[in-house]
Amino acid sequence: MDIIALKSEFIRLYGEGKIRVFHSPGRVNLIGEHIDYNGGYVFPCALDFGTFACVRKREDNKLNLASTNFDLKVTADLDNLIYDEKDDWANYPKGVMKVMVDAGYKVGGMDILVSGNIPNGAGLSSSASLEVLTGVVISELFNNGAVDRVEIVKLSQKAENHFVGVNCGIMDQFAVGMGKKNKAILLDCNSLKYDYAEVNIGDYSLVIMNTNKRRALSESKYNERRAECDEALSILQKLKNIGALCELTVEEFNALAHNIEKENVRKRAKHAVYENERVKKAYDCLNKGALKEFGELLIQSHDSLKDLYEVTGKELDTLVYEAIKAPGCIGARMTGAGFGGCAIALVDKALLEDFIAQVKTNYENIIGYAPDFYFSGIGEGAEELK
Ligand code: GLA
Repeated sequence: MDIIALKSEFIRLYGEGKIRVFHSPGRVNLIGEHIDYNGGYVFPCALDFGTFACVRKREDNKLNLASTNFDLKVTADLDNLIYDEKDDWANYPKGVMKVMVDAGYKVGGMDILVSGNIPNGAGLSSSASLEVLTGVVISELFNNGAVDRVEIVKLSQKAENHFVGVNCGIMDQFAVGMGKKNKAILLDCNSLKYDYAEVNIGDYSLVIMNTNKRRALSESKYNERRAECDEALSILQKLKNIGALCELTVEEFNALAHNIEKENVRKRAKHAVYENERVKKAYDCLNKGALKEFGELLIQSHDSLKDLYEVTGKELDTLVYEAIKAPGCIGARMTGAGFGGCAIALVDKALLEDFIAQVKTNYENIIGYAPDFYFSGIGEGAEELK
């Protein structure tokens, strides 16, 4: 829905008056998967599609939450914000409001209408987009825009961890909150130090490919992987003074790996350490325009997520390996949590049509239904549109 239509829908729901409009992007991660919670480097960027919100302050403590994507409208009271399964999507804004109230920020009653164009369940962070959006709205409407952006990112992650109950790392909220046009963010998840890299991919296009597989089981498997990494860490901490798996170099890990007896636990830790090294190399490659090498690293990352971390599955593997075989592709990998959702590919612009035709046909023949393809530029982080 465009902004004009969204504003008229807002007026239809809540009546005439001043409306403020905000936008918050989705994200893809270029490389550095499943290592934000292992103190590693990640390399995500914000997309140029995401979630819009029209908002207006109220005189009371009431919250009216509506969305053009879902029929469900939710009313809540600022003094009594609790997770309620039947509130579905509205739990994300409610959660951020709750953690911001608890953290001592000013929050007041609001009428809100949101409208998202991130495909739901595609693993492009529609929930982080909605969370950070809410944080920015609260900062602008009630705190003169003075809430520090990284603080909004951390509070959004807190809402997801403790209010919604999903044990995610900080990458998604960081990418959504701190994204910059045409730049990827190299984020050290241990220290939260970050650096922007210009994404100059010249004759290539960043293609987002959706497996269209429903991400069943992803949450429990995600938590299982986190627990396996914690197990590896506690074994290695008896041998070396580290706070996170990704503090180890590849050489240090290889010298210690035999102490981890369980094969699956050893494999998870190996992925984390090697993936972290790949991110640093990928950052250098992108900076010096070595795109073929960058593409190679994407493929190595996918192989590791398949063989060592075991979070891909038939759909993502088919999509990625068919992409790599198709015309013009110099690299591809799953992005996000895995088990379905999306993959990315770097494809020569001149061969894009052939690439899509081949990947689509082959994927559909093997999997039984078609994938989707999206072309997004790299967008800005969450902001008020003025
Ligand atoms: C999900 C989580 C992130 C990160 C990725 C995997 O997107 O929300 O914190 O762990 O999976 O890299």
